[in-house]
Amino acid sequence: MADELTKGLEGVLAAESELSSIDGDAGRLIYRGYDIADLAERASYEEVVYLLWHGELPDRAALDSFTDAMAAERAVDESILETVRALAAAEEAPMAAMRTAVSMLSATDPDAEAPADDREAARRKARRITAKIPTLLAAYDRVRQDEAPIDPDPDLDLAANFLYMLTGEAPDDVAAETFDQALILHADHGLNASTFTAMVVGSTMADLYSSVTAGIGALSGPLHGGANQDVMEVLFEIESSDLDPREWVERATDEGRRIPGFGHRVYNVTDPRATILKARSAKLAETGDDTWYEITTAIEDYLTDEVGLVEKGIAPNVDFYSGSVYYQLGIPIDMYTPIFAMSRAAGWSAHVLEYQEDNRLIRPRGRYVGPDDREYVPIEDR
Ligand code: CMC
Repeated sequence: MADELTKGLEGVLAAESELSSIDGDAGRLIYRGYDIADLAERASYEEVVYLLWHGELPDRAALDSFTDAMAAERAVDESILETVRALAAAEEAPMAAMRTAVSMLSATDPDAEAPADDREAARRKARRITAKIPTLLAAYDRVRQDEAPIDPDPDLDLAANFLYMLTGEAPDDVAAETFDQALILHADHGLNASTFTAMVVGSTMADLYSSVTAGIGALSGPLHGGANQDVMEVLFEIESSDLDPREWVERATDEGRRIPGFGHRVYNVTDPRATILKARSAKLAETGDDTWYEITTAIEDYLTDEVGLVEKGIAPNVDFYSGSVYYQLGIPIDMYTPIFAMSRAAGWSAHVLEYQEDNRLIRPRGRYVGPDDREYVPIEDR
């Protein structure tokens, strides 16, 4: 057995997957062979989830029945909404509240007792989790503002329904389409940290709720999904300071701060999802507030043209433009990372179900570098 240690498992092949693939040098991402740009432009989130879970794009009848089946699973039991209320009252942050609430969902799942190798039950769980997370999240945001949760509208697709449950108003076409596209872009991304976390849990043949709960925990960190909120906080910081974006970045880099939304373990060029979201942000800026788009592009231009960061392979990632897009849609900033999780639940489930088809417990080794041959000293003699 090789004794080579690869810190952060960088570049280590840990599994085969047919779900998504990243070409980090070309800046290309595919889901089951379809280019992300094509899917973002032409498909719906439900269509993409179907593709991830079933391997093929659905025809009209299959998509309609899949969309209906997903919509039928959106309601969340009152007992869980009670917990969401308690978490919001305790000012639990949304990612943490969501982690707890998703874990609780198994309590009302009729398949809760089904073993993980019951593939049909596992698929139903994936559907329930993915359908219910938007309801949980929207309810959390409502109750913390002393508003009653809004029941899901089965006539709206998942993206539009989420915005509706958040605000009480059905979104206009531009908002619904923009949000649907953002969900598509976040649905899957190879063996990223949270997906791998979900797979490690799934490889013990634990149930899907455990995998997704663990995935949410992994995604919450600032090196992973938490960066989208950090980007928006930087934009606020710049806007409210007397510095222009270039001066702010200069100061931040002098202080050794990382620029959130830049850099990626796999991409050496601009993340294709950032390119799509940048175009979206530009479009929204044409008819609304262009402040955030202007600041983000100024940062990107400065880091590209003068610092040469992008040339070094530290380029915008998905989080750089998603923050300003969500802000332009009026979504509260601490909901950005939970929204990432809401979409990625589909990818986590797809990877866990795929991996369990030919399961092998994920159990690496660690190299022990601690002391040896120590003699136990009774506590009273220490
Ligand atoms: N700003 C400035 N310098 C950076 C940045 C950044 N955002 N990211 C990496 N670097 C530098 C880093 O300082 C290091 O320089 P040096 O070799 O001189 O010490 C070099 O680039 C390599 O960095 P690394 O930490 O070894 O690279 P990594 O592959 O481990 O890190 C990353 C990837 C995403 C953790 C990192 O780029 C980062 O911290 N970015 C900011 C947070 C962020 O945007 N995260 C979202 C990632 S994409 C969405 C997702 O997957 O959730």
